[in-house]
Amino acid sequence: MAASLFGSPNFTSVSHFNQTRFLLYSNKNSPPAIHRSLKSTPPRFAVIVCYSSSSSGGRRSRPEYIPNRIPDPHYVRIFDTTLRDGEQSPGATMTSKEKLDIARQLSKLGVDIIEAGFPAASKDDLDAVKIIAQEVGNAVDENGYVPVICGLARCNKRDIDAAWEAVKYAKRPRIHTFIATSEIHMKYKLRKTKGEVIETARSMVRYARSLGCVDVEFSPEDAGRSDREFLYQILGEVIKAGATTLNIPDTVGYTLPIEFGQLIADIKANTPGIENVIISTHCQNDLGLSTANTLAGAYAGARQVEVTVNGIGERAGNASLEEVVMALKCRGEQVLGGLYTGINTQHIVMSSKMVEEYSGLHVQPHKAIVGANAFAHESGIHQDGMLKHKNTYEIISPEDIGLYRANESGIVLGKLSGRHALRSRLLELGYDIDGKQLDDLFWRFKAVAEKKKTTTDDDLIALVSDVVFQPQVVWKLGDVQVTCGTLGLPMATVRLIDAEGEEHIACANGTGPVDSAYKAVDSIVQVPVTLLEYSLNAVTEGIDAIATTRVLIRGENNHTSTNASGETIHRTFSGTGAGMDIVVSSVRAYINALNKILGFNIQHEVMAKAGNSRVSS
Ligand code: KIV
Repeated sequence: MAASLFGSPNFTSVSHFNQTRFLLYSNKNSPPAIHRSLKSTPPRFAVIVCYSSSSSGGRRSRPEYIPNRIPDPHYVRIFDTTLRDGEQSPGATMTSKEKLDIARQLSKLGVDIIEAGFPAASKDDLDAVKIIAQEVGNAVDENGYVPVICGLARCNKRDIDAAWEAVKYAKRPRIHTFIATSEIHMKYKLRKTKGEVIETARSMVRYARSLGCVDVEFSPEDAGRSDREFLYQILGEVIKAGATTLNIPDTVGYTLPIEFGQLIADIKANTPGIENVIISTHCQNDLGLSTANTLAGAYAGARQVEVTVNGIGERAGNASLEEVVMALKCRGEQVLGGLYTGINTQHIVMSSKMVEEYSGLHVQPHKAIVGANAFAHESGIHQDGMLKHKNTYEIISPEDIGLYRANESGIVLGKLSGRHALRSRLLELGYDIDGKQLDDLFWRFKAVAEKKKTTTDDDLIALVSDVVFQPQVVWKLGDVQVTCGTLGLPMATVRLIDAEGEEHIACANGTGPVDSAYKAVDSIVQVPVTLLEYSLNAVTEGIDAIATTRVLIRGENNHTSTNASGETIHRTFSGTGAGMDIVVSSVRAYINALNKILGFNIQHEVMAKAGNSRVSS
């Protein structure tokens, strides 16, 4: 099967995540002068026509979960590592609440395995994985589906203990342990011989099994650059020690699809005992080939693929869940010998938006599947073709990923629109929002609609970001008032409301209105932080546009953790805000970022009081 792949033109490079933002300012403690900061999105015209389900047909049923075997040879398990590898992206720190929200969404999406974190990294990480294991890892649906909850561990007892402590509450817990196997990593990073690496891997897999964990994944880190014979040997040994999944990482995104497919085929052909385990892929995107490599790996025999939503992850990121899943859905039957997944693809858009908001990592407009332009046809020739027959330029249906667009309902939102109309439009945009979140959003929408004649989709998206995807509220903005200009000192007065509903008022002066307002907020909240980035963006054209602000801050005192390579990382926290007034939008973003830091502290204290963790940060 694999041989036909290598001459095949079917695997091409897939363009990938590339963060696009309007960065006006960085690495200072005060924001920029406002007159420089508005950047308007160019007007867009898009004709989007939806059609019914794609040629790949309906979903097939998910086979029973057995750690080391899949009853259906065509089924590919989706292992999502957004909360582990994805969170390792700079600035992508998420709170426990955000991680739990994402884990619930991943479960709606139907991913087979959620890698919920690296529990040995810090107490916060362990607690977040534990909560996910307890809640999402026990929420069995009517079909018996519940995701496996996995924790990452280096090959040492302390990491493995922490991972087990975090995941053991899940119905289906998994420990994922790894050690590097390439010459360069063994020599310079581990300073271990091949024999020592094999012994460590074997004994740690055995140790993980001895704790009572029946589902153990092993990864030879940097497998893409490791010696083949050595790989067969170490993989054979960990199978004997009890590993149930062997994950093959292309850690530095070095291989080409033809090579990566061959690597998987060779491991399948030469590793003793391989028929008793699942082979998995983990492809980084340094050369923009992660999706193509993942598909090549699946075609060559891997039956688990490791991916992240929006392709976020270290450096250039990972294979993106939506690209891999939609490629399998779209072409799996015709080109890949019938490979399929259990993903409910209609939840893709909502998952993408949630991860974008919580990680603070924007999706580029031309990103495959989930980018804003992925289904927009602007050129006359394309529009003409689309109107005559949608398949001329669209290979998948937008509804398949949860996007219902182009005013299907004919609704134009304005100040007289009700909740129902708002909810319908949000659903068309891929946001499934209800209950209190919808109520809160509705009142913000009303306030904007009072001032603007028509409310555009971009306005709505900015409001969703500001109202729905926000951290636990510790401080809330009451009012802000600024004076500025050429005549005097910029001055701000801020009224904040704390968690008990008490009001706090402060005034401060600074270099500009935003700087003054931030200083006034600082004097109330009193959390020392460094402002690393500040960007302001007008989401629609016109003088009455909504402005969105994004800030990135770092706490001065704490918030360090260890990454999977053992380096100490200083966490950074992002915050977004929206409003028709740019100072208000800026203050909202800042307060949201502060709330994220405070949320972290509160979570830490609550867990410490409950004696809920064994690993200190
Ligand atoms: O990239 C990598 O090698 C990893 C492993 C821990 C799977 O993230």
